[in-house]
Amino acid sequence: MTNPIAIPPRSPVVQAAVSVSPTTTSTIHERLRRDSLLSSNVRQPKVLHPVENEDLKLLLLENISQDAVKSFRAQGWQVDHHTKALSEDELVQKIGQYHAIGIRSKTKITSRVIKSASKLLVIGCFCIGTNQVDLETAGKAGIPVFNSPFSNSRSVAELVISEIIALARQYFERSFEMRQGLWNKQSKGCWEIRGKTLGIVGYGHIGSQLSVLAEAFGMRVLFYDIINLMPLGSARQTDTLSNLLSESDFVTLHVPELPETKKMISGPQLAQMKKGAYLINNARGSVIDIPALIEAVKSGHIAGAALDVYPVEPGSNGSPFDDQLNPWASELRSLKNVILTPHIGGSTEEAQRMIGEEVAGSLTRYLNFGATVGAVNFPEVDLRAITADEPDHVRICHVHVNQPGVLRQVNEVLSPYNVEKQYSDSKGDVAYLMADIADVSPHDVNKLRELISKTSANILTRLLA
Ligand SMILES: NC(=O)c1ccc[n+]([C@@H]2O[C@H](COP(=O)([O-])OP(=O)(O)OC[C@H]3O[C@@H](n4cnc5c(N)ncnc54)[C@H](O)[C@@H]3O)[C@@H](O)[C@H]2O)c1
Repeated sequence: MTNPIAIPPRSPVVQAAVSVSPTTTSTIHERLRRDSLLSSNVRQPKVLHPVENEDLKLLLLENISQDAVKSFRAQGWQVDHHTKALSEDELVQKIGQYHAIGIRSKTKITSRVIKSASKLLVIGCFCIGTNQVDLETAGKAGIPVFNSPFSNSRSVAELVISEIIALARQYFERSFEMRQGLWNKQSKGCWEIRGKTLGIVGYGHIGSQLSVLAEAFGMRVLFYDIINLMPLGSARQTDTLSNLLSESDFVTLHVPELPETKKMISGPQLAQMKKGAYLINNARGSVIDIPALIEAVKSGHIAGAALDVYPVEPGSNGSPFDDQLNPWASELRSLKNVILTPHIGGSTEEAQRMIGEEVAGSLTRYLNFGATVGAVNFPEVDLRAITADEPDHVRICHVHVNQPGVLRQVNEVLSPYNVEKQYSDSKGDVAYLMADIADVSPHDVNKLRELISKTSANILTRLLA
């Protein structure tokens, strides 16, 4: 099978003998050591570095956090940091000199950019989504892409708790009236949340976190999910969505955007909800049929709603949220006891910091150890650490086209050596093999690298020692 998008095999990044390892101060292994988690008689893991004669260069765009910059520089890597995104043409011009790139959502890594990135080893999306990267082309070029999909789960869960109380007490409406100079003290239709039932649809990272917080407020928690999950605390899983809807005082949605979840809360589901219940959506805009919700609120069947996400959202701050964007926008805006927020569920300083830490950690683990766990477009492979008392061990990281016979070819090359451990996996057209080889001399390192790079399915071969 030939590589269908015809990206030429990448030339190996290894050129000469083993380089002097840069000084490192903050790897996970060193932290473990510092924290004395490893007792003195446990074998110490060794910090690996690319076996190459050129220093790694990283390009960080869109004002990625200075903590990430510091952690990369502590590895001895050269970091170019820009506050803005670069255009496709600018990237095509620049990218050839870099081994890694860090972006947020504005920089587009297209197939043209990837084809100009002759040295690029890894892409870090310092955000939740990865739509801005041509993932398939990156994978076929041997470039794993990392992101941070769950760093903001807590932030969303906390926002939902605040929305439950705000809806139950109508205090955002009272605050709005006060701003207009109107004193309107009332208790009718205002509730404590203690003892009320919260129905969580989708019990994943956010839903389960929310379950714990809601119980701490004295709520009874039900959840519905397509898979059977261990309930946290005293929460209870319902067999059907209908059961959850008919029993809950508050229903909150935490499912992914999928064909099956499109308009999963529409007219019939709203009718199944208790009269006077509340609906909250911080998942994706397509999950609710909003005109049906408007009708249910107007009729008084639904007492209030909180929406953070919409089928179509403005591209930038300051843009209007009007009927041109979504035809029902002005009608929705006119409803009392409906909280509208501009997709801020995950937008906190803490979530930003955690995204920085997680993606910087993934890039560092890939560049130093070859680990691809968490990559979105790549087989997920890792090996236990080479230890400090294994000085002549070499780690082979071999990305290849997923086709029969590759392992036979590679193992033939490795047959004179002691293969201490080996693991390989595939995803679509791309496969990734990691192997740790014992007692390899510097001369053999080059020979090994050359022979494996010449195998017929090679996309990229890196050696770490
Ligand atoms: N508002 C924001 O700023 C914000 C921030 C982060 C995430 N989100 C969105 O929140 C949603 C949930 O995120 P998460 O991190 O908890 O995701 P997750 O993948 O951890 O959990 C999703 C859960 O939904 C379940 N599920 C899938 N299809 C279902 C169906 N048809 N019915 C019932 N359950 C179903 C899955 O089994 C899983 O347990 C996603 O849509 C995400 O995009 C929004």
